[in-house]
Amino acid sequence: MKQQKYADIYQSWRDAPEAFWAAQAALIDWSKPPETIFQANETGDRWYVDGEMNSCYNCVDRHVAAGHGEREALIYDSPMTGKIEKITYAALQERVECVAGMLQNHNIGKGDRVIIYMPMIAETAIAALACARLGAVHSIVFGGFAAAELATRIDDAQPKMIMAASCGLEPGRVIAYKPLIDAAIELAEHKPDHVVMWQRPHQQAELSAPRDVEWQSQEQAARAANLRPACVAVKATDPLYILYTSGTTGIPKGVVRDNGGHLVALCWSMKNIYNIAPGEVFWSASDFGWVVGHSFILYGPLAIGATSVIYEGKPVGTPDAGAFWRVMSAHGVRALFTAPTAFRAIKKQDPDGKLIKNYDLSSLRTLYLAGERVDPDTINWAEAHLKIPVIDNWWQTETGWPICANPVGIETLPIKKGSPARAMPGYEIAVLDENNQPVGPNETGAIVIKLPLPPGCLPDLWQNNEGFQTAYMVDYPGYYKTGDAGFLDEDGYLYVMSRTDDIINVAGHRLSTGSMEEVLAGHKDIAECAVLGVRDALKGEVPLGLLVLNDGVNRPDAEILAEAIQLVRDQIGPVAAFKLALRVARLPKTRSGKILRATIRKIANGETWTMPATIDDPAILDEISQALSAIGYPQPIENE
Ligand code: COA
Ligand code: AMP
Repeated sequence: MKQQKYADIYQSWRDAPEAFWAAQAALIDWSKPPETIFQANETGDRWYVDGEMNSCYNCVDRHVAAGHGEREALIYDSPMTGKIEKITYAALQERVECVAGMLQNHNIGKGDRVIIYMPMIAETAIAALACARLGAVHSIVFGGFAAAELATRIDDAQPKMIMAASCGLEPGRVIAYKPLIDAAIELAEHKPDHVVMWQRPHQQAELSAPRDVEWQSQEQAARAANLRPACVAVKATDPLYILYTSGTTGIPKGVVRDNGGHLVALCWSMKNIYNIAPGEVFWSASDFGWVVGHSFILYGPLAIGATSVIYEGKPVGTPDAGAFWRVMSAHGVRALFTAPTAFRAIKKQDPDGKLIKNYDLSSLRTLYLAGERVDPDTINWAEAHLKIPVIDNWWQTETGWPICANPVGIETLPIKKGSPARAMPGYEIAVLDENNQPVGPNETGAIVIKLPLPPGCLPDLWQNNEGFQTAYMVDYPGYYKTGDAGFLDEDGYLYVMSRTDDIINVAGHRLSTGSMEEVLAGHKDIAECAVLGVRDALKGEVPLGLLVLNDGVNRPDAEILAEAIQLVRDQIGPVAAFKLALRVARLPKTRSGKILRATIRKIANGETWTMPATIDDPAILDEISQALSAIGYPQPIENE
């Protein structure tokens, strides 16, 4: 009986997709409601093409207008600073208006790009909403990326302005952002007109006029002048943001998110997947720099008038493995969304969940996990200690909202551990073999989504339609390529097992091993290299670099390996977590010269492997096995 509900809704979408999404359009407020719901387009399909609206209006103003101004919109909770700050919808509107005024004062308007390079503070949300208010396009860059990565994004997005904070706070260290921004602008060809700096007391930035301006005084000036721009109506298909994500090359892909379809899809998800009602507290323990932060710290919860927690801290060490329980009990969190790695970190430090008992978690209904494959061990631990359903959901930066999930707001489908359950309305999944033919149940293949993609998914890559077509559309005509491999079981449950490209998932962060190889290849003593992901008990995967040095290099290996590690840290950033490098004499290759990364990975992970038929020199695999075993790989199973 219950099972019917999801099945009915999914079927109603399949029977009449446009009617389904026409009905969902009512979840948001439009200044001009859409009449054309869907338009197929050669460069990429579009939803709600003639609709007009504003994302900031929907996330802020409409709740105040509806009389909910005193409801909490954001709760900033920072164990790093010891501060907890609650911001009502009315207060949020006031701040966003003045910050939009400040942006306008610096010539930011509709269509202009603004890069936001900021930590987990309320001002990051305010910055994004102020851009949305003006129809400007924001691009948030994760603080753990180095200057070179920021520079690539500056050159691609061509921002008029960078909004930043003077520093980020990591356990045990203050990260000054200004030197990173200066270095990035120096490296980039494009030069933004202004850097607007939120000065934090922990480390102030030195500003050089006229390019650099202080946020606080400029916001205050806009307030004093009563410069409070109204929301600018934009087309549903106009870009709201660009979010760069790892692709198969070193150049990140600028995923474009539009306004209308995005908010509709998020409102649908908040209710039907995350089971959150207006006024309830939702906590997505991620970072604004990732898609989870965009969709489920910022836009999703605010679009429905819920309360969203902004957490500046870690699951462990700030101060202990009870941090998550403290936040949830302090703020009456109804649902937590995080990456499995966070739970693995907590479980490692508090295996018996003793700290949970110190807190009242009675308001917590559901735990959602995503960002990487959710291992059954982590689910079992969370279920046993929290005694609530643990819901896996699978999606990507490109889609912006879950492709597969258990729609708890509709009904809780039977949970199968290791599967993010079933396709959400809007998504029809297929698993294809190398000849683009669907495989049978439980057979592994490439996971693809039948076109068109639903509202909210990327319509394009930023000014790179060719890249969009090549990356996602050409390999499987009629389908979108997810880059993941796995299988569907006989009940339509999906199992996502691995990537089909060089992307690895480190602590829930998506990284390209190809881009690390590019950086390493730049080291003067490295002749060639291979980077691959090896299993890690905490982070799921970590990168391992195998380096072949130039002939005649006679410095100690340790010195060169340390330099290689530092190079990746300097050029990609600490987030790459590249700490394992190994010198090898040769790399195993096929006769046509392709490095056999998959085979090396299997050896390093202790998985069964077969000798590739095309291998050039099988003896090299023995050498690799020996070199790996000298650094403790494969790791003993009990460590996992
Ligand atoms: N700014 C600057 N540096 C940052 C950063 C930021 N915003 N975020 C992380 N880093 C640094 C860390 O300090 C660390 O540096 P180190 O090498 O000097 O130790 C490095 O980047 C790697 O970070 P991370 O992989 O996150 O490891 P960690 O040891 O700091 O923490 C976990 C491990 C499991 C606690 C942490 O990864 C975590 O909470 N992950 C949650 C995952 C998540 O939110 N995913 C988003 C998708 S849902
Ligand atoms: P990102 O774009 O950073 O969100 O990373 C998306 C990728 O992370 C997906 O393509 C998957 O490879 C992986 N991923 C995300 N969620 C899950 C999940 N629930 N199960 C398995 N893999 C996941």
